[in-house]
Amino acid sequence: MQASGLDMELRVHAVDDRTSGVRLLDLRRADGGLLPTFDAGSHIDVAVGEAGVRQYSLFNAPDQADRYCIAVALKEQGRGGSRFLHERVRTGDALRVSAPRNHFALVSDPAPSILIAGGIGITPLWAMAQALEAQGRPWELHYGARSREEAALLVQIEAFAASARHGRVCLYFSRVAGGCRMDLHSVIRRAPPQAHLYCCGGTPMLEDYKVRVQGRPVSHVHSERFQSTQEAASAGGYVVVLARSGRQVEVSPGQTVLDALEGAGVQVDYTCREGICGDCEVAVLEGTPDHRDDVLTEDERAANATMMICCSGCKGARLVLDL
Ligand code: FES
Repeated sequence: MQASGLDMELRVHAVDDRTSGVRLLDLRRADGGLLPTFDAGSHIDVAVGEAGVRQYSLFNAPDQADRYCIAVALKEQGRGGSRFLHERVRTGDALRVSAPRNHFALVSDPAPSILIAGGIGITPLWAMAQALEAQGRPWELHYGARSREEAALLVQIEAFAASARHGRVCLYFSRVAGGCRMDLHSVIRRAPPQAHLYCCGGTPMLEDYKVRVQGRPVSHVHSERFQSTQEAASAGGYVVVLARSGRQVEVSPGQTVLDALEGAGVQVDYTCREGICGDCEVAVLEGTPDHRDDVLTEDERAANATMMICCSGCKGARLVLDL
């Protein structure tokens, strides 16, 4: 595996299990030193034992330069990554992590930022709210969860909201007496036309978001998924040409491009293998990809300049990649 560099070993400085089904981990260097900087919306890769590597958004404020804080929702039916972090990790343990990367960055624009979070999708948006407040830029955070007990970071968010000068927080609890579900339509309708919208949550919320933001400039609509929505392209029957060596690799039925390259002994970067992290992005020099990822925007897909080789395929007989 050539997962992107897990080149830091950090200590679990603190564990917080107060939220039902969610564990907060505060990761720091053993010597308490500074870590590589990050912007709001960034994530890190975390080695999770035999389950491999998972991505987690950083939720702490980017100016807290000595820590990376992540929130891990326990997925009972998952592949074991969240279970590892919930059940096997203790304060003082060491975890291997990557440097932060960001596919969900705040746009530098004085227009208001409307942050929309569902469930554990709060993590990157909470970092964004803190960054916007620190920069004196206007923001709103709309956070929906089933109940207060299941709303990660709620204590921190409510304390922050009480003293915020540039933004406000709206909370929605769908499974409590007198509570309500977030009305995405009305949140988006009320957003100023020039606002930047950011959304992170489960698939139903993101599908609804996609519909509700229609008519707004694509450059002002941003989202991040933590679940893939599409099947990988595995029809095969095409050839991948590696431009730097001229080598040709056949992609057979049942294989992705990544499978075929691994089978041929070609080392490439990847992490999630699901089309959500962006780590396997490769420049396309010739050919038409069959995009199946949740990373590229519509414009980027149309441009066909890059593709995610872990899940996307080819619409023709040949792809030439910058590898
Ligand atoms: S490995 Fe994550 S998008 Fe391909």
